[in-house]
Amino acid sequence: MAKFLVQKSDPLCGTVDISGAKNAVLPLMAAAMLADGECIINDVPALRDVDVMKGILESLGVKTEEMGPSVLKIQAEEISTNEADYNLVKRMRASFLVMGPLLARTGRAKVHMPGGCSIGSRPIDLHLKGFRALGAEVISADTYAEAIAPEGGLVGAEIYLDFPSVGATENIITAAVLAKGSTVLENAAQEPEIVDLANFLNKMGARVRGAGTDTIKIEGVERLHGCEHTVIPDRIEAGTFMLAAAITRGNILIRNVLPDHIKPITAKLRECGVVIQMEDEGMRVIGDQKELVSTDIKTMPYPGFPTDIQSPFMAFLTTVQGPSTVIETVFENRFMHVAELNRMGANITTDGNKAMIPGGSTLEGAQVIATDLRAGAAMVLAGLYAEGTTEISEIYHIERGYERFVEKFRALGANIMKVNN
Ligand code: UD1
Repeated sequence: MAKFLVQKSDPLCGTVDISGAKNAVLPLMAAAMLADGECIINDVPALRDVDVMKGILESLGVKTEEMGPSVLKIQAEEISTNEADYNLVKRMRASFLVMGPLLARTGRAKVHMPGGCSIGSRPIDLHLKGFRALGAEVISADTYAEAIAPEGGLVGAEIYLDFPSVGATENIITAAVLAKGSTVLENAAQEPEIVDLANFLNKMGARVRGAGTDTIKIEGVERLHGCEHTVIPDRIEAGTFMLAAAITRGNILIRNVLPDHIKPITAKLRECGVVIQMEDEGMRVIGDQKELVSTDIKTMPYPGFPTDIQSPFMAFLTTVQGPSTVIETVFENRFMHVAELNRMGANITTDGNKAMIPGGSTLEGAQVIATDLRAGAAMVLAGLYAEGTTEISEIYHIERGYERFVEKFRALGANIMKVNN
């Protein structure tokens, strides 16, 4: 199994270009199934999750073609089956995002229960609640979910989400765009990836209003056509490199980042004493201040502090002066990295969804596991700071969601290499 070997590194310096967002491109690819013409998507990152989504689309009879680096053509003139391939679906939770478009386009969708990172039970009840509200008959079994539209198709409805789930918001929007009449989705997720999806759908001829707020209105249309769209930059990748500058006390210029999307990360890093400034070319993050200090973090749905940056931020907090607390409110089981950071000497304690980080730790390299995608990034960051060598296993998690990870880190001076053994 491949591993990363990470060694204490000098302050990271240089320029990094952020790729298209994983969490935006996956719903866009699924939504391309709604068009009867060609969709061209630009800035598609080369990621395992993207390959899995391509495979799922192809297994449904949709044609995908790489038109060049980062450019993907999706042609869904014909859809040959209503059932997504189990072997692919089990590899990634976002596979479930094909359910809304498949139901809208063909009137029937069957998807096996998805896999992905094990950061909590991650139910799909809110997705199914939305499909039911739109008139679908929904069968929810242990291993799969199936939705069948009524004769005459889905019908717009008023839907309230008990929690602003990102995936449920996306699945309900993509199911509702071809429904008869209007849908109002309340307590919707407000993440930038939802706005990107709405923009993409509107280019295809959909009528989606209010994305980016908690109330989204969708007027159903009869058909959608192809379009061309460029994926937004990955705010979580940007946050990871901001933390790389902070933890190594380095100085990194981050290009292709939208500052509005990363406000909570910027604000919290500034509280710790990290200098962040906008330049013509991008955002400069300077962590080489004399003493960086602690802060407290509470994850929330957007525009709150992103749960996906919780573990990388925690790795950084182990290195600053003074104690910090981290409260995780989005996922129930997202502290698996705590045990790994403790192997390196972080001395973090937890009480339910609250972690207490004493700070000021001199981390020591150790053998650790990338317990999920973002926890894997956190271990790399900790490894750059720690004395000696950190050996990180199960790195396939990291490769699911970061494009050219090792290459980008090495270009900034990081001591990281991938070994196969
Ligand atoms: C998406 C992101 C993921 C991010 C998460 C939260 C993608 C591909 N993934 O995941 O990186 O960490 O948003 O920002 O975009 N829930 C329910 N019932 C449901 C659906 C969700 O109870 O039907 C709960 C989940 O268990 C979790 C919370 O809602 O506790 C948030 O999940 P959700 O926003 O749906 O996350 P994902 O869309 O899976």
